[in-house]
Amino acid sequence: MTTARDTAWLQLRDVRVRFGTADVEPVVSIDELRLEKGEFLGLAGESGAGKTTIGLTILGLTRYAGAQVSGSIRLAGEELLSMPKRRLRQLRGSTMTLVPQNPAAAFNPVLPVGVTVRRALRLHGCTRAEARRRAEAGLERVGLPAAHLARHPHQLSGGQLQRVAIALASALGTRLLIADEPTSSLDVRTQAQICTLLTELRAEHGTAVLFISHDLALLAKLCDRIAVLHRGRVIEDRPAADLVTAPRAERTRQLLAAAPRLGGLPVSGARDGHGEGHDGEDREGADSGCDDGCDGCDDGCDDGCDDGCDDGKNGRDDEEAADGA
Ligand SMILES: Nc1ncnc2c1ncn2[C@@H]1O[C@H](COP(=O)(O)OP(=O)(O)O)[C@@H](O)[C@H]1O
Ligand SMILES: [Mg+2]
Repeated sequence: MTTARDTAWLQLRDVRVRFGTADVEPVVSIDELRLEKGEFLGLAGESGAGKTTIGLTILGLTRYAGAQVSGSIRLAGEELLSMPKRRLRQLRGSTMTLVPQNPAAAFNPVLPVGVTVRRALRLHGCTRAEARRRAEAGLERVGLPAAHLARHPHQLSGGQLQRVAIALASALGTRLLIADEPTSSLDVRTQAQICTLLTELRAEHGTAVLFISHDLALLAKLCDRIAVLHRGRVIEDRPAADLVTAPRAERTRQLLAAAPRLGGLPVSGARDGHGEGHDGEDREGADSGCDDGCDGCDDGCDDGCDDGCDDGKNGRDDEEAADGA
């Protein structure tokens, strides 16, 4: 039996992910990857390296895309790969949460985002009133007006949707956040705000973050360690400062050369001046009267959907929808 000493809080061992039959080359081939409680691990690599696939595999979501997964992924001593679906669903959301690379696909397009957020909170034990309170507080925390909860996904930008997902993770007090390119569609100031939020999550809940990005400069500022992925394999996994100052692999050097200059806004204090509801990326016309009508819409949808819509209107597993957000 393994002991706490040789087992990390999150540990991947001999993980192979294939889309297809056993003779197909795996798109992910990880011999070992470790993450401790409260640690920030950057996962870097060029497009197609397998970053998203690793994140989705940890959450048990690649199976829905027909992936064959072998090996071991243990979280706090529990094996995720052979875990019953029901237990995995309990863990998704409460313990591990995804901020997806494509957030538009994670929110149900026919529901206001607030409904998805409140459902996730209620699935994890909140009363209706508590879910509403936490959803509103969560949104304000990520610098969005609570009234945005009444908007449908198409009325929010990709960056705003990612912030709604981070608000949900914060409201759930998640312990493992898998953030897939969470800042790539954001301006520098909002990027810094998101990074500050993640460090606050760590301080409050001991949240560990697997931060996926091809931007090594950003990862160097935020993360304790960085693992560089190439064709599904980890080619370097070292303390962030060491890796960016003295990269060993040629691929790492190339990624560094491609990264924006190290610098930009500092992470701490980046929230100064935010929180008034303006993030510089609101879509023209997205307001379109929605904020005014929010309360009524919010109430109506919440009541109607919580009780009656799940089976007929949603069209997808409600828990999966909430998990994915
Ligand atoms: N559902 C899928 N079916 C088949 N191949 C996939 C699927 N998802 C990802 N892949 C392949 O896996 C590889 C890694 O993709 P991905 O994890 O999205 O890379 P990254 O996030 O690093 O850009 C790519 O070659 C991609 O084409
Ligand atoms: Mg990706």
